[in-house]
Amino acid sequence: MKKKIVIDGGKKLSGTIAINGAKNSVVALIPAAIMANSPVTLEGVPDISDVESLTKIIELMGAKVERQGDTMMIDPTGVKSVPMPYGIINSFRASYYFMGALVAKFGESVVGLPGGCNLGPRPIDLHVKGFEALGAQVDNNFGAMYLKTGEQGLQGTHIFMDNVSVGATINVMLAAVRAKGRTVIENAAREPEIIDVATLLNNMGAKIRGAGTDEIRITGVDELHGTRHSVIPDRIEAGTYLAMAAALGEGEGITVENVLYEHLESYIAKLQEMGVEMTIREDSITVHPVKDLKMTKIVTYPYPGFATDLQQPITPLLLMANGVGELRDTIYEKRVNHVPELARMGGNISVEGNRVIIQGPSKLQGASVKASDLRAGAALVTAGLIAEGTTTVYDVEHVLRGYDKIIEKLTSLGANIRLEDCEEGEYIG
Ligand code: EPZ
Repeated sequence: MKKKIVIDGGKKLSGTIAINGAKNSVVALIPAAIMANSPVTLEGVPDISDVESLTKIIELMGAKVERQGDTMMIDPTGVKSVPMPYGIINSFRASYYFMGALVAKFGESVVGLPGGCNLGPRPIDLHVKGFEALGAQVDNNFGAMYLKTGEQGLQGTHIFMDNVSVGATINVMLAAVRAKGRTVIENAAREPEIIDVATLLNNMGAKIRGAGTDEIRITGVDELHGTRHSVIPDRIEAGTYLAMAAALGEGEGITVENVLYEHLESYIAKLQEMGVEMTIREDSITVHPVKDLKMTKIVTYPYPGFATDLQQPITPLLLMANGVGELRDTIYEKRVNHVPELARMGGNISVEGNRVIIQGPSKLQGASVKASDLRAGAALVTAGLIAEGTTTVYDVEHVLRGYDKIIEKLTSLGANIRLEDCEEGEYIG
């Protein structure tokens, strides 16, 4: 049954919410965990549909999974190398981490080509280049990737990433930890989630140095054992709520707990440039009510630059600011499907070439809108909270992939928001 989110907007919010573990970390940690020869416990696992899909996949492979609150116990001892169930695996992009994890563990893997958000082309050529450099043979047969190594297995090597890729960096790291000898990954991505995966792997017995820098050095090991690991907070979820807080906070303002300031420096600097005042503590941030927002210019870059995943969630806040602003996503130029939906809500926003032009302040009116992808959906929820009147967001399955308990969290801040089933025939796909 398709779901929708219904919001009666225009209400000010206040209170405290806690951020969960990082989706873009946990979608790699779970495939990494099955590389161990004994149980792995992950703490701080968010309750999101991508985690449900990953749990189903590793159980199909023979792993035993137990969930207690946000703790996930994975016993990988029964895991056998089987072709991935195409249906599930095609539901989101990060399923491609099974390529690296399984070819490292079994010397072979069969993985359905990734699905995930429609942000424009999502190639995996850098992943394939890395696996081939490590000595794997990679074939793309009718939408499934077949990886196979010769009897000599994976061999350490020197890989230069043609462009900075989070997924390719993590995937090649997963394969390289079991390759014979030394691997160097140059021009590696530096996202905090990469450090989180490297920390888990090192605690499982891997030998990885330099994660978080643009050069990662790995010495292969023969086996990986179980461990316990705590997932880093989700910096994108945190940034999304900081934008909502700046847009709608009143009174005491809104405090976001379990957030690491150092993972959001470029984003927080932008909010401060816009006139947002915050109290920043060791692991929480309080956003104080904002009097008048100043417009700004945003360009996204790989970490530690302004994150592409936060350009959509901050856009409704830009619509409230005074002046003409612009936003350019250098990573996904086509990540603009939220723009026409925001325009339908009365936003003075348009796409001109590879830039989004924003004229503020725009008075937003409630409307029926569609979420085209995860962060676009988050932007439409934020716009619905701001807009006068009722907003209905369709295709919210995208939002539920990455925002744990978003309805409960916003309700606790005073929002009038609910998740409902679509009526028969109500949804026009
Ligand atoms: C990760 O995707 C995140 N997903 C994305 O978050 C995020 O937007 C992206 O990194 C950039 O930060 C997960 O971590 C699960 P990339 P990923 O490889 O790894 C090109 C969200 O909203 N490229 O860093 O797929 C690619 O087209 C999601 O949570 C190649 O050309 O992104 C893009 O232009 C959306 N060849 C650029 O590199 C490749 O083989 C960066 O992509 C791989 C990527």
